[in-house]
Amino acid sequence: MDILSLLNWRYAAKRMNGNKIPQEKIEVILESVRLSASSIGLQPYRVIVIENPAVLEQIKPIANNQAQITEASHLLVFAAWSDVSEESIEEYLNLIASERQVSLDSLGTMRGYMAGLTKNTPEQNFNWAARQAYIALGTALIAAASQEVDATPMEGFDSVALDNLLGLPEKGLKSVSILPLGYRDVSQDWLVSLPKVRTPKQKFFLTA
Ligand SMILES: Cc1cc2nc3c(=O)[nH]c(=O)nc-3n(C[C@H](O)[C@H](O)[C@H](O)COP(=O)(O)O)c2cc1C
Repeated sequence: MDILSLLNWRYAAKRMNGNKIPQEKIEVILESVRLSASSIGLQPYRVIVIENPAVLEQIKPIANNQAQITEASHLLVFAAWSDVSEESIEEYLNLIASERQVSLDSLGTMRGYMAGLTKNTPEQNFNWAARQAYIALGTALIAAASQEVDATPMEGFDSVALDNLLGLPEKGLKSVSILPLGYRDVSQDWLVSLPKVRTPKQKFFLTA
């Protein structure tokens, strides 16, 4: 399918059928998420991949008992850094230096720019990190469609309860969105055959 057919095919499935996604497709989706763009390339978020049915059962009530949580094959949790530390900036600079075979000294301008982040409040940095995590969520939606895998982006969950369940505060992370991945249950999903609702082009695109 071409990109527009894939984007018309995908929808936020309300019911999934429990079928497992082949590992090679999961790897394409995860690698696409890892390759997603982020501001200054810092990737200030992590993605928790959950397949364990017992853990998914525990997450379901935290996510308004949405059926897709336990009917999915995998659940991705997009968790943003709760702050940006000097250590994480140094780690990133070291990664650039080793991947590009350049000296740390040559990255002075970048270090100076990133040092500005450490002057922000944790809340400012978390909000910035969350925006980067949402770009990765969008990438995951398109990547899943490319594999003809269904994906339902979700904000309908108690992030504090989920963070505590997954031990995210100890890792300096806060969940911002979750993404069940699986296959639509055509017989049970009321949404499956309804047309998409989108703002008409004439209203959506403005010119200047
Ligand atoms: C950030 C975000 C949060 C969402 N949260 C939920 C959710 O908690 N549960 C759900 O069933 N759908 C959720 N949706 C799905 C939207 O309702 C859906 O994407 C939108 O209606 C457009 O329809 P489509 O994705 O099926 O084309 C969410 C979508 C986004 C992007």
